[in-house]
Amino acid sequence: MRRKVGIIGAGHVGSHVAAGLALLNICEDIVLIDTDRRKAEAHGADLQDMVCYGGRSCRIWAGGYEDISDAQVCVISASGEIFKENRLEELDVALDVMDDIIPKLKASGFGGILVSITNPCDLVALYLHMKTDYPVIGTGTALDSARFRIRIARELDVRPDSVEAFCIGEHGDSQVPVWSQVRIGGRLLDELAEEEPERWALDRAAVEKSTVEAGWEIANKKGSTEFGIGAAAAELIGAVLCDSREILPCSLPSLWNGTEIYASRPALINGGGHPDPLLLKLTEGEEKAYEESRKMMAEYRRLKLDGRM
Ligand code: 2OP
Repeated sequence: MRRKVGIIGAGHVGSHVAAGLALLNICEDIVLIDTDRRKAEAHGADLQDMVCYGGRSCRIWAGGYEDISDAQVCVISASGEIFKENRLEELDVALDVMDDIIPKLKASGFGGILVSITNPCDLVALYLHMKTDYPVIGTGTALDSARFRIRIARELDVRPDSVEAFCIGEHGDSQVPVWSQVRIGGRLLDELAEEEPERWALDRAAVEKSTVEAGWEIANKKGSTEFGIGAAAAELIGAVLCDSREILPCSLPSLWNGTEIYASRPALINGGGHPDPLLLKLTEGEEKAYEESRKMMAEYRRLKLDGRM
């Protein structure tokens, strides 16, 4: 069976998701859908030129909703303007964009899994979940977790993939980097730092600030982020397409005080589109911050989403 991925919103982010998927060699067809058809065609042609190197065989082209009826995964990366200071600024426009996309998606006959990237990621993923019957996974803190790992790795001078670390909660300013569960070589960083502080202690506040502000810093300098989110989304989509059982932080349905929201936590990714979240083990401070992050999303749901149903 050919594996097909549709990407709605083929701008900076969508085109980099396509590049990530093609480089991972995990699907045979990628359809780029964008309101700017010429741009989608150009991205498709440019990306297709890339595929021939490295023994890959993916077909990438600009298409319409009718072309994704048989796709297994559809990525939602369409957005309005990119945020200036806080991703939540994008919410109203993003919901209007979703209201335009949802009927077309349903009419297309698409019956697969949605991977939602559009910011504010958790609220848009929740909205798609509320308005459609598709399984919806948000990329959430998959990207923030990579940023967290990279910063820890750089400070400690170890390879990033030797650092196990994740952020939970909102893909945004209220996210919670979970220091208490950071592991290097199977050991808790907390323990290593206590045993050998000269080797393993680091400026945690600085790492945390730089992790949370990373997206904003990049977007302010070049107008968007694209490479990091492209790779994070491609990894998540690959895990779904291949039923890989990889554990990744991503945005999932979660109950806060009886209200359904979306928030990130590490989960086992399977082919069904309903990742299986791991139980969290947090310190009191982390638990409180995670609660605050989720509470904020429940408030946004009440203020901005419920009235649109
Ligand atoms: C990012 O963090 C902007 O949400 C996007 O890169």
